Amino acid sequence: MNKTALIASLALWMVPGPALAASPAAAIAETPVPCIESRNGRHALIVDGAPYLILGAQANNSSNYPAMLGDIWPMLDAMNANTLEIPIAWEQVEPVEGAFDFSYLQTLLDEARVHNKRIVLLWFGTWKNTSPSYTPAWVKLDNKRFPRMKAPDGADHYVLSPLSKNTLEADRRAFVKVIEYLRDHDRQNTVIMVQPENETGSYRVPRDYSAEGNGLFARQIPAALARRTGKSGTWEQAYGKQAPRAFNTWYVASFVNALAEAGKAVKPLPMYVNASLAGPSNVPDPTGVASGGPQWDVLDIWKAAAPAIDFAGPDIYDRESANVIQYLDKYNRPDNALMVPEIGNSAMYARFFWAVIGRGGIGFSPFGMDNSGFLNYPLGAKKIDEATLGTFALPYATLAPIMRDWARIAFARPTWGTAKPDDNTPRHIVMGKWKITATWGERQFGEKEWTWLQADPPPWADKPVGGAAVAQLSDNEYLVMGDHVRVRFTPAGGEPNGVIVSVEEGTFRNGQWVKTRVWNGDQTDYGLNFVDKPQVLKVTTGFYSSK
Ligand code: DGJ
Repeated sequence: MNKTALIASLALWMVPGPALAASPAAAIAETPVPCIESRNGRHALIVDGAPYLILGAQANNSSNYPAMLGDIWPMLDAMNANTLEIPIAWEQVEPVEGAFDFSYLQTLLDEARVHNKRIVLLWFGTWKNTSPSYTPAWVKLDNKRFPRMKAPDGADHYVLSPLSKNTLEADRRAFVKVIEYLRDHDRQNTVIMVQPENETGSYRVPRDYSAEGNGLFARQIPAALARRTGKSGTWEQAYGKQAPRAFNTWYVASFVNALAEAGKAVKPLPMYVNASLAGPSNVPDPTGVASGGPQWDVLDIWKAAAPAIDFAGPDIYDRESANVIQYLDKYNRPDNALMVPEIGNSAMYARFFWAVIGRGGIGFSPFGMDNSGFLNYPLGAKKIDEATLGTFALPYATLAPIMRDWARIAFARPTWGTAKPDDNTPRHIVMGKWKITATWGERQFGEKEWTWLQADPPPWADKPVGGAAVAQLSDNEYLVMGDHVRVRFTPAGGEPNGVIVSVEEGTFRNGQWVKTRVWNGDQTDYGLNFVDKPQVLKVTTGFYSSK
């Protein structure tokens, strides 16, 4: 029996009897380990045994120290966030080889519990935005044992080679220690998900051109990849100009998979990877992309090489609305749950939350949400002022009280989500017998076309705000919410006898809809106008009969 198995079996023997039941450790309820469930092309993140929606926020890169945590919680509270994404760095847990320090992790767990937040832990190891900057000094400085990739001219490239068994073993050992710590100190699963590595790949040099790399590159593609893609032959035969990138993707994904597999053997938490994106529709130049990372066009390579990775998510810092939507659609697949692990924290990004949850997404997380004073402008906000925070806080406030209900419904029922496009054009969907249209920059009362009363446009009319999400609850009932949007229901076939039977504002209690009031008159005559209040509506539709 190995040491881990021995400790596990001792732990079973040591389950406290009634006499010990009052001790604080025994009082901690053991909850089922979170997991991703997929059914009929839809996905749910299961936390504490039920679907959970990540109303997330990611801290800045260097906020992973106990001294910084106090700068994080107030911002998450102000945003109504329920989950913090935060790094844990290899350099911080294993500064000296073989000597592990989990004091930060314990403080993080303690404080998260006090502040009632769940954690997504980001393992900054061999790759952090492709670079080995978060590896311990004993890794960084030993290029013989932990070799960097070689460029075609034989020069060292800054990225650690994914082909190195030493690097894999050392990184995996540290990562597994982290997961062991969670197994032993996080029985209540404060940590709900883990991201092994961060934005993997290599910029400029698409693969390792070392002798070993060249040898492997000349071989046939692996059988698992051939099976998955139907391709065959050598890397060059199978992938042409993309071959160096496809090759590196396979080896990076296999490396990350080895971490995830070993970690899951200890505690089977959901594990995902995040992508530095390279365009929403183009196949990128292998030297102009984080070659090896899980960009949308190489997801099949990741799926074949990394079955222990539950999904890949896009890190979105693209301000064009059509591009954002394309990214969401590219990562929302029957074999890939949609989660946005990072999105810019300027106000204009908040509206895409609706587009994410409307696609059945399991989470959304603006990046750089803490009071450390650091701003990643121009990727994100110039300033995180009250107005900026408010754009994220409003949709989160809408979902926070019903997030379990929304996540449960979105796992089972058709959903739709939309965000104001850059050109301000209406968006619509047909759900069941009804066409649902979202329009932007409308007042709450009246029509834009009314010229007989002079009126100013609403202050948000020309701002990049606004979005809505809808779930079809049954043939004739819909859950609707949003902000800075007008949502209108019209019979999809133009039937003249279609009517809105009722519009109830309310919430869910114990999984049941509870109405607080009925909207009618001015509140429904001009569509359903959501502006700046967290409101959830249940719309009941019908077709009257004259017989
Ligand atoms: C994407 C990375 O994943 C983050 O850690 C961070 O570096 C941002 N880019 C930029 O602020």
